[in-house]
Amino acid sequence: MAIRVGLLGCGHVGSALVRLIDDHAPIIEARAGAKLEITRVAVRNLAKERDVELPHERFTHDAEEVVTDPSVDVVVEVIGGIEPARSLILAALERGKPVITANKELLANFGRELFTAAEDRGVDLLFEASVCGGIPLIRPLRESLAGDRIRRIMGIVNGTTNFVLTRMTESGSSFMEALAEAQTLGYAERDPTADVEGYDAAAKAAIIASIAFGTQVVAGDVYREGIADLTAQDIDSARNLGYVVKLLAIAEDVDGEVAVRVHPAMVPVRHPLASVKDSFNAVFIQADAVGDLMLYGRGAGGMPTASAVLGDLIDAAKNLAGGGRGATMGAVARKRIRPIDEMRSQFYVLVEVADRPGVLAAIASAFGAHGVSIKSMQQVGIAEEARLIFVTHKAKERDLEATMHDVRALDVVHKVGSILRVVGEDD
Ligand SMILES: NC(=O)c1ccc[n+]([C@@H]2O[C@H](COP(=O)([O-])OP(=O)(O)OC[C@H]3O[C@@H](n4cnc5c(N)ncnc54)[C@H](OP(=O)(O)O)[C@@H]3O)[C@@H](O)[C@H]2O)c1
Repeated sequence: MAIRVGLLGCGHVGSALVRLIDDHAPIIEARAGAKLEITRVAVRNLAKERDVELPHERFTHDAEEVVTDPSVDVVVEVIGGIEPARSLILAALERGKPVITANKELLANFGRELFTAAEDRGVDLLFEASVCGGIPLIRPLRESLAGDRIRRIMGIVNGTTNFVLTRMTESGSSFMEALAEAQTLGYAERDPTADVEGYDAAAKAAIIASIAFGTQVVAGDVYREGIADLTAQDIDSARNLGYVVKLLAIAEDVDGEVAVRVHPAMVPVRHPLASVKDSFNAVFIQADAVGDLMLYGRGAGGMPTASAVLGDLIDAAKNLAGGGRGATMGAVARKRIRPIDEMRSQFYVLVEVADRPGVLAAIASAFGAHGVSIKSMQQVGIAEEARLIFVTHKAKERDLEATMHDVRALDVVHKVGSILRVVGEDD
């Protein structure tokens, strides 16, 4: 028996998938109980050279033709973006065809519509590759941990920013220097906005939160800060205090509400996420029964991502052959998304002040007035000025903001420098 696959897109991921299906054919047939045959491939440019061994006549630039072809059993969408990917997936699902997609942007914005269409038709919509490429994450969350209560997920889910932060940490480069190096080595796009401003991580955080907490979270619900404003001095201060700076995607269940955010954070060097370097990704999960769990690996790249797509494809093929279907999204509760100003974090705060008696007392009193408790303080003197570095205990974002408002107004304060959250210490 053969399962006929319609492939939408044959770029980095699509072409790696074609090669993988070819290279691993015997294993795939044994595991899927059927041969996988790529019978139709949609691309934008038919003239482009591709590193795949498929007859030319299987290619078309008409993606709709692939989806509607009655001989296609399963559709793999690796075009990316919102349209035409959304309409093509809906058209496939409406025809009762299972779909595998790697498209985080689409799922983070239109996931509910697509999952509802899949539920209505009773077909699989699988998306393991959409978050952290080759790292198995969606299936562990949906299946292996289905009986556990997940409290919090913290992830390094963007390889570009992790590479940039690793270079800043290890070679003392500035953000711009590290970004230029990432671009030269092909780890960053020419327009790096989606990565460095945290949009890519926010889309992944929305998908992770939706799966982990059985609710609907869209990309726009995710609080987001990028890494472009981080300085070599922040990285250096972090090191001196025993932290490393990482861009984290954090999804938490807080008293039945869901808090989802992406921002740079200081992570203690002993925390497992601190040792995740270069373009690697990792996701740290905390759940009641299993305790702490970490998944680590290649979050991007054609082959790692194709590996995740192929796992889903084999699942869909087995279900097609056996008449079943994979895990569904299950009931979706409507949980409140907790706004950032109600969230609680530990903070690192750098304040530049006049080196005069009484300064510390004035600042400490501003912290105290808003109930923000100071965990540690360091003073670094420079000529007439001093730099004060505070690390707080957990406090509400709103209270920290009010504190900083008052601190800025003190005449002995020259400048409030960086404010960074400290994560993974007090919890
Ligand atoms: N690359 C990664 O490391 C990675 C990791 C995780 C997830 N993903 C996701 O995987 C998906 C694909 O990424 P990719 O890196 O493989 O992208 P890519 O290299 O840009 O490939 C996109 C493919 O889609 C084709 N295409 C674009 N518009 C089309 C249209 N209207 N009709 C038919 N074909 C069309 C392109 O055709 P041409 O070749 O003719 O231009 C190309 O083959 C995205 O959703 C991405 O977010 C990628």
